[in-house]
Amino acid sequence: MTRNGIIALVAGVAVAIAVGIWISDLVISNVETRQAQDSGAARVGGPFTLVNEQGETVTEADFRGRYMLIYFGFTFCPDVCPTELQVMASAIEALGPRGEDIAPVFITIDPERDTPEIMARYVALFHPRLTGLTGSPEQIAAAAKAWHVFYRKAEDESSSEDYTMDHSSIVFLMGPQGEYLKLFAPGTSPDKMAEDIAAFL
Ligand code: NI
Repeated sequence: MTRNGIIALVAGVAVAIAVGIWISDLVISNVETRQAQDSGAARVGGPFTLVNEQGETVTEADFRGRYMLIYFGFTFCPDVCPTELQVMASAIEALGPRGEDIAPVFITIDPERDTPEIMARYVALFHPRLTGLTGSPEQIAAAAKAWHVFYRKAEDESSSEDYTMDHSSIVFLMGPQGEYLKLFAPGTSPDKMAEDIAAFL
């Protein structure tokens, strides 16, 4: 290899590393999530008490023995949430029969508007087994904290709605004992998600 070739190669690797770091900083905005990942400790997730589409109380115990694919968002979200929920649904379908071991779960971070009835109508648009969970503001805050999910109300002048929600957009894979296994950054393809999930099944 020529000297210029080596310089180009080194520069290329440096750019790739820099871009990689930038992307990971962008998508994993929460330092605690990153630390939990690095240490391998199961610090993502935990006990929760929420409310399903029938208005019934649901806890982590109701999902024991099944893998969970969890996403936090809100039904009024114009694009990011629907996209990620569609990716989750497609990944589960791509897994075929093995996908039946996975419980996809959508937890709203906008409990003020996302009532059980609204959640019921919304989740049905994506996957027949997608569970929509809401709850009191305190219950939602506790669940979001356990998964290190950030959210806040934001004014939305471009919409007829009073407000929109800023929120983290990460899909979490949890194991049969509720243990954290993996997170998926926004933009993960359904095939990649399915492949990574399959490695745990
Ligand atoms: Ni959203």
